[in-house]
Amino acid sequence: MTNVFSPITLRGLTIPNRVWMSPMCTYSAAADGEHIGQPTDFHLAHYSARAAGGAGLVMVEATGVAPEGRISPFDLGLWSESQVEAFGRLAGAIRAGGAVPAVQLAHAGRKASVNPPWLGGNPVNQAAGGWQAMGPSTVEFPGFPAPESLTHGQIADVVSSFAHSARLANQAGFEVVEIHAAHGYLLHSFLSPVSNLRDDEYGGSLENRARLVLAVIDAVRAVWPEGRPVFLRVSTTDWINENPDDDRRAWSVEDTVHLAGWAKERGIDLVDASSGGLEPALIPESRDYQVDKAAQVRARSGVPVAAVGRISDPEWAAELIRDDAADAVFIGRALLRDASWTNNAAAALGAQPRFLHQYDYAL
Ligand SMILES: Cc1cc2nc3c(=O)[nH]c(=O)nc-3n(C[C@H](O)[C@H](O)[C@H](O)COP(=O)(O)O)c2cc1C
Repeated sequence: MTNVFSPITLRGLTIPNRVWMSPMCTYSAAADGEHIGQPTDFHLAHYSARAAGGAGLVMVEATGVAPEGRISPFDLGLWSESQVEAFGRLAGAIRAGGAVPAVQLAHAGRKASVNPPWLGGNPVNQAAGGWQAMGPSTVEFPGFPAPESLTHGQIADVVSSFAHSARLANQAGFEVVEIHAAHGYLLHSFLSPVSNLRDDEYGGSLENRARLVLAVIDAVRAVWPEGRPVFLRVSTTDWINENPDDDRRAWSVEDTVHLAGWAKERGIDLVDASSGGLEPALIPESRDYQVDKAAQVRARSGVPVAAVGRISDPEWAAELIRDDAADAVFIGRALLRDASWTNNAAAALGAQPRFLHQYDYAL
């Protein structure tokens, strides 16, 4: 029986526990000028607090691999040498807090160029500092402008942008990179037959729709140190097949199981199993709505899986690891509200909180 506060080793990296901070955009980077895309002092404070609060790994939010790959103008981005130093300070602050520094590399695809949620989440047009969004086809995300369909040359640029960004993340001192292939962003939009209507080698069959993601994995693996893990965040379902009133063929758990197997062969060490985001959908209200699908992918593919979604009860987190439903848990909103969620969970479960003297757990 595995304990949620026991370490896990992936390749040459040992992560001190299995409670990890899920990637969450803070939309707090500079939108333009010489500091565009760089982490600020806010990011240092925000992420190092969650690290010192006990998380085993801190996954820095979606970070654009190219300017047009950002979701909003205020996203982090890592595409130039000039950005490495600021990311290096962030990785160092997370490490000083006792957590493994990790970063999620992303391309927003057809969901790019929008305002942060608290400014309405609506598209930003080019006159207001936005940019043309791109996708596999010209099928738009409902309510957004139609994306441009990527040419073969642009697809090659996307692949090399992910690799370049991974190389810079390594220079900055991150120990894990995660490729974002979930939530309807570019890589997921290639995977799903709802958004991908291409008739070339990137569309049609499951193998063809997976071709871009697998090429990105190969390119990242080629530059990322052999001894360090690469994670893949996926949506296990678009929630379209689950809707009895919608008979479109969409992305499913079955497809995810195939993708996980191929991804592992290419050098992915862990699948981070989220769901949805391709288009607005009906999502069940049950606590295990998403975690249950993560467990299915783990059991059926044999690939290590992290579960995420509505995990806010330490006892349940411990149970998921103990029952082999997942190898680790990502905590999202609970960690936004309480930077010490992990330490408090450790104390409640009889494990040792991090910095127990400084934070007065020992007295
Ligand atoms: C404010 C906010 C920002 C998010 N940004 C990202 C992101 O950058 N990348 C990502 O893969 N998921 C993102 N997510 C999804 C979370 O990582 C997580 O999967 C989701 O919130 C479900 O977990 P929870 O119920 O523990 O919050 C975000 C969620 C929130 C609430």
